[in-house]
Amino acid sequence: MSDNALIAPSILAADFGYLMRDIKKIENNADYLHIDVMDGHYVNNISFGIPVIESIRKYTDMKFYTHLMITNPEKYIKVFADAGSDNITFHLECTEDPDKLINEIRSYGKGVGIAVHPDTPVEKVFPYIGKVDIVLIMTVYPGFGGQGYLKSSGDRIRSLRKAIDEKGADTIISVDGGVTEKTIKEIYDAGARLFVAGSSVFHAEDPSKAVDDLKKCCM
Ligand code: DX5
Ligand code: ZN
Repeated sequence: MSDNALIAPSILAADFGYLMRDIKKIENNADYLHIDVMDGHYVNNISFGIPVIESIRKYTDMKFYTHLMITNPEKYIKVFADAGSDNITFHLECTEDPDKLINEIRSYGKGVGIAVHPDTPVEKVFPYIGKVDIVLIMTVYPGFGGQGYLKSSGDRIRSLRKAIDEKGADTIISVDGGVTEKTIKEIYDAGARLFVAGSSVFHAEDPSKAVDDLKKCCM
């Protein structure tokens, strides 16, 4: 496992009226751009969809980490791949056949992530270790930015870390929700390496510095 903490600012916390301006602030030092797609079914909120991703794709080379909080993800994998995603992450709870989705995402040459809701036993994702690039542990209830980090996540991350290490896999543990300068170190110590951060980056006075500061907390 690498020591480096990777940061994926979530545009859910950006100013959509000035979306590209906000993305430009972090494009040089953030590692991924996290893109939260919400359908009003799987989660109680609607964010944005394909045209927004296609539009921003034209103006940045950042790696797009698309987080699908949608039911029936199988219907939409191709369009999200074509829109310019580099990684497509779907929720374990939203499909009967994760392997089929993993294979489809791979067939488009994209990275694959599988996300786990805080109420889903983390062991349910263990069979996909090594098959996916990212396991995304939700550290808040999906649907909204600006919530507090769920303390119960530490044990879940540690047990996933152990399972990945036992398999000798290079699957990355990502976390999403409530990542701040106060919480990131304990999450890092539990074994996560890819941190989604919305409010703590885009609501900061200097988002680029906020990305660097989050990384520094893990050194
Ligand atoms: C929540 C989203 C998150 C959200 C995180 O459902 O998946 O990506 O933007 O926001 P913060 O970092 O503000 O908790
Ligand atoms: Zn997200």
